[in-house]
Amino acid sequence: MSAFMIPEMEPSEFVQWQSMLERRTGLWLPETRKAFLVTSLNRHMREKGITVYREYYQLLDSGQVTSLEWARLVDSLTVHETCFYRDLDSLNLVTSYCRNRALHAFRDQPTEVQDIQVWSVGCSTGEETYSLAMELEKLTGSLSPEQQKLMYYGVTGVDVSYPSLAVAREGIYSNKNSDFLPSTSFNHFFEKLADNHIQVKSNIKKRTCFMQANILELDEKPKQFFDVIYCQNVMIYFRQERKAEIIEDFEKRLKPGGILILGHGEVTQVANKNLTRVDNKHCLAFIKSQVNITKESERA
Ligand SMILES: C[S@@+](CC[C@H](N)C(=O)[O-])C[C@H]1O[C@@H](n2cnc3c(N)ncnc32)[C@H](O)[C@@H]1O
Repeated sequence: MSAFMIPEMEPSEFVQWQSMLERRTGLWLPETRKAFLVTSLNRHMREKGITVYREYYQLLDSGQVTSLEWARLVDSLTVHETCFYRDLDSLNLVTSYCRNRALHAFRDQPTEVQDIQVWSVGCSTGEETYSLAMELEKLTGSLSPEQQKLMYYGVTGVDVSYPSLAVAREGIYSNKNSDFLPSTSFNHFFEKLADNHIQVKSNIKKRTCFMQANILELDEKPKQFFDVIYCQNVMIYFRQERKAEIIEDFEKRLKPGGILILGHGEVTQVANKNLTRVDNKHCLAFIKSQVNITKESERA
């Protein structure tokens, strides 16, 4: 067989790959993504001079490959498609939520610094993270001069993909990516570069940071608490039980009264007592209660 011919994958072999990848990475590849899996595996196998799936399967399952190799494989099995202002309804919900949160806080403590922290989970190449930061920058600009001095915010982008994060950290995009940018954001927050590229300005960049993490292994990461957790077009990679675990982890990292925003239709059941669905038919969002209901009921 030629080294470049893609071998057929038997249905039983696909089931084995499906379950091994689920077990080791949490990724669930439905039957509809078999062709995608086969193409990706062949790319990795070719680099190693492997021509049969079984050999590569055994190598991966033996635990003899580095975590970087696993990260590369996961990277090639996920889609990184994204754009600025991808989901306007969800972004508008974040902005109005943050405005109310800041204004309530200033009403109760007019001289205290207000710090709003946002987590953009599965941020890919950063467009989502920067869109959130641009909206929070506009919100800050709409406050009174005294409040502006006391308002602080940060947006942390997290993704499992090293190559995507490298693009995100640079903040340089093709002009074509600006199609969905509102003109106010385009004019205020980007520099035009040569060769039809645009760069996120430093006032937005300094409000953002990017970190590499697998959302299935969040326990290994330092615990930080967020006012907003924004996770869209990521849950599609996981089965229902995994989604439930991820939501539990998110809930633990939300501040009391914080908001979790997921992709519309990506999760069907959320059975966490501390999370209440936001009444908005365009968004899938949940508010965390001010008191920990689980702990309260345990005490009763
Ligand atoms: C389709 S993109 C979505 C980007 C952005 N959230 C948006 O909606 O435009 C999905 C991203 O999720 C990331 N991802 C997939 N599984 C992940 C995991 N287990 N941990 C962290 N990120 C993951 C992928 O690397 C990819 O960049």
